[in-house]
Amino acid sequence: MRIIVNHATCQGHARCWAQAPDIFKLDDEGYILPGDINVAEGDELLASRGAQACPERALEIDRT
Ligand code: F3S
Repeated sequence: MRIIVNHATCQGHARCWAQAPDIFKLDDEGYILPGDINVAEGDELLASRGAQACPERALEIDRT
């Protein structure tokens, strides 16, 4: 599973990070770091919760 990060859409709400700080890394201003995230098997539930917590829909779940 992969999280596609639409960095330009991020508004720095940090709700992804609040769900899973080890998966969603933020910069010093609280914006998600650019670049897609490869999720380890055991982290999929947490990663999904974090992605779904984003009110801007900046984080897309890719299960292919
Ligand atoms: Fe950005 Fe959404 Fe996370 S706005 S910091 S990707 S909750």
